[in-house]
Amino acid sequence: MAIDLKAHIRGIPDFPKPGILFYDISTLLRNGPAWQETVSRLADLVAPTAPTALAGIESRGFLLAAPVAAALGLGFIMIRKPRKLPGATVGLSYALEYGTDRIEMQADAVKPGDRVVLLDDLLATGGTMAAAIRLLREAGAEVPLSAALIELTFLQGRARLDAPFASLLAYD
Ligand code: PRP
Ligand code: MG
Repeated sequence: MAIDLKAHIRGIPDFPKPGILFYDISTLLRNGPAWQETVSRLADLVAPTAPTALAGIESRGFLLAAPVAAALGLGFIMIRKPRKLPGATVGLSYALEYGTDRIEMQADAVKPGDRVVLLDDLLATGGTMAAAIRLLREAGAEVPLSAALIELTFLQGRARLDAPFASLLAYD
């Protein structure tokens, strides 16, 4: 029988700020069978879109995207926080509720003809995923799918995304 993945995710109230319920995947990562099933279900979600590579968003997105890429025999692209990557990079700044944030990728990460599926742990407002989709597209990639393990549906983040989106677990 399939494992109930939600049963392995903790909701921690008032983190990182009062009023926010934080969905903590530490307990999912800590459970071997549940973690194995998470990676396998994400691989099944991604495989039909025929990607040539996967990309993950630092830091929690790396935890998901790298093992899914390896499970599918695909390469993995790191989309990182600023000033972490050596050599020539391309980046994109995007607006937050208060202030701005920035993501970067190595300039040669995307190859001609690449179809890159983007994975993150969680979709909240969609700002991070929307920026990563744009960054990949500007580098010449097709993005046949963006996906997250957890989607906070009440924030309607998927409406901000300019690519197909799928999630395994929705919270409303
Ligand atoms: C969290 C989460 C997503 C993003 C979702 O990352 O892992 O990447 O926020 O929020 P959004 O949809 O409103 O953009 P965070 O920046 O907290 O850092 P981490 O992944 O390094 O823990
Ligand atoms: Mg993140």
